[in-house]
Amino acid sequence: MARLQIDAVSKRFGADHAVREVSLDIADGEFLVLLGPSGCGKSTLLRMIAGLETPSSGRILVDGTDVTDEAPQRRDLAMVFQSYALYPHLTVAKNIGFPLRARRQPRARIAARVSEVAATLELSALLERRPAALSGGQRQRVALARAMVRDPGAFLMDEPLSNLDAKLRSATRAELIALHQRLGATFLYVTHDQVEAMTMATRIALLDAGRIEQVGTPEELYDRPRTAFVAGFLGSPPMNLFPAEVNWRDGSLRVQADGIDAALAITAESGAGTRVLAGIRPERLRIDATATAVRGRVTMVENLGSEELVHVTAGSVRLCVRAARPAGVQVGEDIGLRLDPGDIHLFDPDSGLRLTWQEPQDDTAGEEAAAVSDVA
Ligand SMILES: Nc1ncnc2c1ncn2[C@@H]1O[C@H](COP(=O)(O)OP(=O)(O)O)[C@@H](O)[C@H]1O
Ligand SMILES: [Mg+2]
Repeated sequence: MARLQIDAVSKRFGADHAVREVSLDIADGEFLVLLGPSGCGKSTLLRMIAGLETPSSGRILVDGTDVTDEAPQRRDLAMVFQSYALYPHLTVAKNIGFPLRARRQPRARIAARVSEVAATLELSALLERRPAALSGGQRQRVALARAMVRDPGAFLMDEPLSNLDAKLRSATRAELIALHQRLGATFLYVTHDQVEAMTMATRIALLDAGRIEQVGTPEELYDRPRTAFVAGFLGSPPMNLFPAEVNWRDGSLRVQADGIDAALAITAESGAGTRVLAGIRPERLRIDATATAVRGRVTMVENLGSEELVHVTAGSVRLCVRAARPAGVQVGEDIGLRLDPGDIHLFDPDSGLRLTWQEPQDDTAGEEAAAVSDVA
């Protein structure tokens, strides 16, 4: 069991900043996913926690103890890599038992522990095979078993599913969730795959260019993205984002762009005449012949089997609508789109920060409040 604290950790490679002042407090037993595009610094951050890379500045604590300068084997952590890194000449049993042999544990104890862990991961029948005679999914489980054998306080995993095909990936996701519940250990899991993050994480830390954009539950990031980057990164297809203006008309605030004029759930007069970046998720736009909020023309309809993606151009704004199939519209048709005022997200077009006029100012981050007063 382990709590992991990352305190203002940075990593430079020459002049390049791979990780910039990242702070994270990961509670014992959490399943925290580090999510972000390729090259954003996820692996570098994980490797610093594992002790495979030294931070340029900042501290790493495991259960309150500063381990920043400790060797990897002296941190109570186990790492699982994308490549599995199994020893090809050793059997599955020897691969799994390797960390215990390296620590000179008694033979009988190693055998007992290997068979216990192998049973947990359904590897008992494969113990005498070598890695070459295993499928990708089985190799991945051996790598996990080898990490589990020491009973570490935390598991650090770097894209462990990315070499598996889609079907096996989804099965293994479910297995990892079950394993996490069974072990009750801390999982720190790196991926660029938003589906893995949304389905497995108790919390997600979304990184971009070495910086944390937002930390929160999957629901918080999806429903209340702190920045336009988060809004655009989560969701498939992604949130529609377009430049707009907030204006006062007929006693209410409206978000307006060429082809769009929709009421906002805002009562305050602040913000009128303000440039914004407006966002609306494809599944929140509803096709409605009588709707006036958005008037546009259908440019393409994509059939996904269970649903359809309808591409609409409203003035100069291009929108994607996700609708049940059949959506019942034709390319070239002029249609209306309806939306709930509460489904419109507003961001500062310069800083990208969420604007929260319409929301209660509860635990809202300081930057948000500052961003509002910037433009108000
Ligand atoms: N050993 C290294 N030397 C120089 N640059 C590196 C090294 N490792 C990573 N980088 C750079 O740091 C950045 C972050 O890399 P990485 O942590 O691997 O990203 P991710 O895992 O999110 O794809 C990238 O720009 C990468 O090129
Ligand atoms: Mg990586």
